[in-house]
Amino acid sequence: MAHYAVRESPPLRGEIPISTSKNAVLPIMCGALLTDEDVRIEKPPKLTDVATLASLLDACGCRVKQESNALILKADALKNPHDDEDVRKMRASVLVLGPLLARLGEARIPLPGGCAIGQRPIDQHLKGMSALGAKVTFDHGGVTLTGRLRGAVIYLDMPSVGATENLMMAATLAEGITRIENAAKEPEIVDLSAFLSSMGARITGAGTSTICIEGVSSLHGTSWLPIADRVEAGTMACACAITGGELLLRGARADHLRSLLFKLSEAGVHIQDTQGGLMVFGRAKQPFEIRTMVYPGFPTDLQAPMMAVACRTPGTSVFLETIFENRFMHAAELSRLGAHIRVENRVAVVEGTPYLTGANVSSTDLRAGAALILAGLCAEGETIVNDEGGHIDRGYVGIEEKLSAVGGLVARIPSPA
Ligand code: UD1
Repeated sequence: MAHYAVRESPPLRGEIPISTSKNAVLPIMCGALLTDEDVRIEKPPKLTDVATLASLLDACGCRVKQESNALILKADALKNPHDDEDVRKMRASVLVLGPLLARLGEARIPLPGGCAIGQRPIDQHLKGMSALGAKVTFDHGGVTLTGRLRGAVIYLDMPSVGATENLMMAATLAEGITRIENAAKEPEIVDLSAFLSSMGARITGAGTSTICIEGVSSLHGTSWLPIADRVEAGTMACACAITGGELLLRGARADHLRSLLFKLSEAGVHIQDTQGGLMVFGRAKQPFEIRTMVYPGFPTDLQAPMMAVACRTPGTSVFLETIFENRFMHAAELSRLGAHIRVENRVAVVEGTPYLTGANVSSTDLRAGAALILAGLCAEGETIVNDEGGHIDRGYVGIEEKLSAVGGLVARIPSPA
């Protein structure tokens, strides 16, 4: 649980170091289960999702050692976890399925329930595992997979990020060649593939819609520095677009953020790709249209932060959410600050207004919470963001510290005033 007090802020100026990517680190941590040797992950982001997954890996017989700037994982006593609690806490825990099955010939996890942004089934993960030869049985609210894996051709009905990652990991130790068609192309998939290759896996095509994996009999330890977090970088770019100013997002990669950068440019924000990272200058002045899509389309994770930008940008901006069915919950909270937003099913229409005013608002999910902090930066007076679920700490490292360091008036407070 956390609460933030946000005040109308001057233009943000300075440098924000971008952390390593949550969505890259979580699958990489699960990938460490594929070997009994040491896997060293450099500069892991200090996030509750990372801590939750570390606790689940520990329950899977993987020793987890935290050094000052590295996480060392050693899965030399691999087993299925007894306690379901950590799996339930976090959707990404489903990614232990592939490695457990590949190494033990058996994997069991509770079925993830619905979540705030939609139903999020795992049918594509299971369909793929079954194509690899696993027997899938459902019992007592969980799913059990058993069997020795053999290479196969798998067609995903939609390019699911998690299913692509899970199947890629399982196939590294399957006998023979696996081809995943209609695979997800996100940068985190490319990073996972490079990480697995550094452990001895044979993978080609990551970053395209066909990924080929030639199974090997075992993988070895490695040391890996994951990519910078494109969602954190994008969120900070949106913060600049809201207040104006000049930010260097240290370590951010323009090639991972093309769709956002095009949209910010259309809105009148200037972007410069430099050696140290991305420079972002000035405030959004024109409205824009956003359709969330799989990579390289506009990321659903940046839809909420861009909606915060649209609230104060003159003109009518339009959002179409195609990935998750219930991802506009921040719209109602932004409206409490005086934003003009109409939501109809998967479409949100935002009329930019010259003023927002501070209010008490609630964070309903991770990116929604960040969007509310951003909106507070341009709302008159004080905005209190109540994050009862601790969503923001799941995916942003010290968001209040990073924004404060460049002039944002954001503080973590013990409980709402
Ligand atoms: C990952 C990211 C998340 C991001 C999302 C979409 C991580 C830890 N999380 O989540 O931040 O918002 O990608 O870019 O990397 N689906 C099915 N069946 C399946 C799998 C998915 O129907 O078996 C549907 C989902 O309900 C959703 C869509 O496919 O509507 C996308 O899901 P997916 O790409 O799997 O997202 P995640 O891997 O869960």
